[in-house]
Amino acid sequence: MARIIGTGSYLPKRVMTNKEMEEYVDTTDEWIVARTGIRERHLSDGQENTGDLGYIAALAALENAGVKAEEVDYILVATTTPHSLVPNTSSYIQDKLGASNASCLDLNAACTGFIYGLEVAEGLLKSDHINHILVIGSEVLSKITDFTDRSTCVLFGDGAGAAVLAKGNGIRGIISGADGTKGACLHTRDFPVNNLIEKGSTAPQLIHMDGKEVYKFAVNILPEALKAAVLRGKGDLEELDHIVPHQANIRIIEAASKRLSISMDKFYVNIQNTGNTSSASIAIALDELNRSGKLENGHQLALVGFGGGLTYGAVYLEWNI
Ligand code: UT7
Repeated sequence: MARIIGTGSYLPKRVMTNKEMEEYVDTTDEWIVARTGIRERHLSDGQENTGDLGYIAALAALENAGVKAEEVDYILVATTTPHSLVPNTSSYIQDKLGASNASCLDLNAACTGFIYGLEVAEGLLKSDHINHILVIGSEVLSKITDFTDRSTCVLFGDGAGAAVLAKGNGIRGIISGADGTKGACLHTRDFPVNNLIEKGSTAPQLIHMDGKEVYKFAVNILPEALKAAVLRGKGDLEELDHIVPHQANIRIIEAASKRLSISMDKFYVNIQNTGNTSSASIAIALDELNRSGKLENGHQLALVGFGGGLTYGAVYLEWNI
């Protein structure tokens, strides 16, 4: 029994338009808009790191929830681009918030990370001693983006989103899963396994993606995961008021709308301004929807994600803030 009681998000101030992207790779604004729906993305100024973005989003979520930092029992940070490997990003955020009573755990399920975070939080809230959990999705993808590869660099952006969870009625059904056999479709180069043998490597760990394979996986799994979560929660697809999908490509969202026979009006879309922010994407979109005034208590929502792993997951919930 868990519910979301507040949300927050943060996008770095620096905006990179498609036109500016044309200076770096052989691409055009027209190609990017037509193939992805993206017009611009926000990028870190090079000073703001993953924990800094996540901290601002978390602060906004705590304020929205009316919860003090000392009341947080657990901080879960979903990220593929941690602030540092050690300490973890959640400990960094704990320090900045002054959330001294919180346990701190990072998790990585790529673009499905926020959904996995909600699933873990829902399980933790069954414990008597845990009452408030901050689930944060935060990414500085620009640190692993190859700005010489036009097939990937136009897609990604930086940002963070957060939600505060408490005990109560809200989340009705969650599903998650992964197909590890497709891991190579979206990966970063491995770190040296043994620095003594490989004498270390200074090469950056950049993203490589087989866009077509991930696309095929996404158009199938998005509707399937969403249907499975609603079924698990004994709900009805037709009664959904809002769907908050991972923002990877507008064409993937449009294909899901068609396949599910659910109008595009019900899908929250902000990809035009954010690009793909991986673990942060669903959390940012949910916060924007929450602050838009279009979300009312009693509304039925589905959040759905997919990405590297390849992972997927969906949450069906009633809004009860
Ligand atoms: O969040 C993680 C999940 N990730 C995803 O969901 C991504 C899923 N995949 C996609 O969204 C799409 O596959 C992409 C947007 C990555 C690519 O779109 P596409 O329609 O599959 O394009 P494509 O890869 O088939 O490329 C078509 C053409 C190629 O040229 P040729 O071979 O036809 O001459 C590419 O070289 O477009 C070319 N191309 C570009 N042209 C201009 C690829 N990237 C660009 C670019 N600008 N940025």
